[in-house]
Amino acid sequence: MSNESVQLYYPSPEFVKNAAVSGMDAYKALCAEAEKDYEGYWARHARELITWQTPFTKVLDESEAPFYKWFTDGKLNVSYNCLDRNVEAGNGDKTAIIFEADDGQVTKVSYKELLSKVCKMANALKSMGVKKGDRVVIYLPMTVEGIVAMQACARIGATHSVVFGGFSAQSLRDRINDAGAVCLITSDGQFRGGKSIPLKPIADEAFSLGGCESVKNVIVFKRTGGEVSMTAGRDQWLHEVLASQPETCEPEWVEAEHPLFLLYTSGSTGKPKGVQHSTGGYLLQAIMTMKYSFDIKPADVFWCTADIGWVTGHTYITYGPLACGATEVVFEGVPTYPDAGRFWKMIQDHKASIFYTAPTAIRSLIKAADTNEAVHPKKYDLSSLRLLGSVGEPINPAAWEWYHQNVGGGRCPIVDTFWQTETGGHMITPMPGATPLVPGSCTLPFPGIQAAVVDETGSDVPWGQGGILVVKKPWPSMIRTIYGDPERFKKSYYPEDLGGTLYLAGDGAIRDAKTGYFTITGRIDDVLNVSGHRMGTMEIESALVAHEKVAEAAVVGRPDDLTGEAICAFVVLKGARPTGDEAKKVIKELQDWVGKEIGPIAKPKDIRFGENLPKTRSGKIMRRLLRSLAKGEEVTQDTSTLENPAILEQLKG
Ligand code: WT7
Repeated sequence: MSNESVQLYYPSPEFVKNAAVSGMDAYKALCAEAEKDYEGYWARHARELITWQTPFTKVLDESEAPFYKWFTDGKLNVSYNCLDRNVEAGNGDKTAIIFEADDGQVTKVSYKELLSKVCKMANALKSMGVKKGDRVVIYLPMTVEGIVAMQACARIGATHSVVFGGFSAQSLRDRINDAGAVCLITSDGQFRGGKSIPLKPIADEAFSLGGCESVKNVIVFKRTGGEVSMTAGRDQWLHEVLASQPETCEPEWVEAEHPLFLLYTSGSTGKPKGVQHSTGGYLLQAIMTMKYSFDIKPADVFWCTADIGWVTGHTYITYGPLACGATEVVFEGVPTYPDAGRFWKMIQDHKASIFYTAPTAIRSLIKAADTNEAVHPKKYDLSSLRLLGSVGEPINPAAWEWYHQNVGGGRCPIVDTFWQTETGGHMITPMPGATPLVPGSCTLPFPGIQAAVVDETGSDVPWGQGGILVVKKPWPSMIRTIYGDPERFKKSYYPEDLGGTLYLAGDGAIRDAKTGYFTITGRIDDVLNVSGHRMGTMEIESALVAHEKVAEAAVVGRPDDLTGEAICAFVVLKGARPTGDEAKKVIKELQDWVGKEIGPIAKPKDIRFGENLPKTRSGKIMRRLLRSLAKGEEVTQDTSTLENPAILEQLKG
């Protein structure tokens, strides 16, 4: 990829003129400011963009590195910054949320209304004895109530941990247990794609597995009207607990380092880890990235299609847009119901001006539009759009071009934002009114972020050469620790082989030889990215071997046109290796099993049976070989160290 061979896409003069970061000189000026005075750069933004109850005097504390701390003596409240200050600024009647339900019903919530909902919920939590520092698990669908629940926790200084509504009872139990949550907020069920799906029964199952004893209260939001059983003394309906609550609630002013939330994500080993985020530093970058990467303006209608169960939903639904006083669209449903024109129709109906979604969604909507004219974006009026975003996985240039042309009408910049649960906000992303775009590249670091590509020893590699993506300096919204496991935090993110001072993202990257633009080349660990959802191969392997028929399992990813990566499992059964219809039956059984153990998103697409797995003489599974087999490639690797070469034939699939 070099300048000559690749077309660059420039923002229009109109866009540049009004942009927060207007032109490359403005981008470079911000980078230079950070270069010259790193702490001063972040401190200036923290003073300008956050309303502090107690201003900070200290900026970065490195005394316990890599457990970095920011703005330690400052005090603030995130919900105050998102709600009260917008009301106080005279924007109480402005629409904060345009909620569109699965069935198309639209509800608008103003800043004033949202504030009073959050206060009532905060008071309800307080009435149950939930206090600052307590953990609250939120297991809710994409509704206004989910956002309210998160903001209510923030208001009283409780640390929330949202569990995606698609996770299983076992996954929910593990997260409740690890966090030692005192309260669970859930709903009777959820609507998705015209179906009513139960949720409370899954929560009940989680409790029945044991290990959720720390939970004293369960609050149940009535969403679907589905049948639920309520445990006396523990479970209460949300509308009942809210009924008597006052509409105001003093915010709890917390230290900047107070944990705002935990969010569990997959690593290459062990159980999902509770990524802990701070209050001040996290909020700062939520706001900064809204302003710089999304160029958010008061008149914008912002729409991020993520779920609050993922970090994208935290930063770019619950916190960032509200802290900027924006109007945002919140969508309960799925992109393909009632048809694959749903996103385009919603952009048209709500006059969305900034649209942020995942490559997987784009690819599936391209496919749908190719076969059905009626759901093609050109059938809709998308003229309200001025900026598009992509997140979660690499976007292939063909999908980028289609998105640019057919959704953005050729006029909207696309910000391909690279970041992670651990980073809290965008790390590498174009500035839409500055950076010339190259399809498939997330371009350059967010101003202030010291991203680099290094080799296995932590030394910089030259541009044009692939390597390991790292961040050289701590940044305000970075992960603070893995909840309850500081050692694992150090090992995972500041490994000694890189010198112990570089943040290891877990991705490979390459910088363009001429422009220095970053392209992410994929995970370098045993983490898979399926439809933008992150999963550890080990988690899936553990789920498989927990099945009574399974003796051994190895899971790898293989490229998939639609989902980016697909899960491929190689399984050795305790009994004979099944073939034909028997194999089909067991495959289905194992897929359903993994769906039940972890969640439907973890179901292997491809399961193959062998009498054994390819291992070296020392017993190590040869994963690289399995990856080739999964792809359907001829095995070109050296198999001389393989103990049982005959096995390859069985696993070809
Ligand atoms: C992993 C993080 C960021 C919020 C959603 C996912 C991959 C993310 C991009 C991008 C290429 C990307 C990386 C990263 N990823 N964004 N723009 N281009 N890859 O958060 O679940 O923590 O996953 O997603 O592999 O490490 P996550």
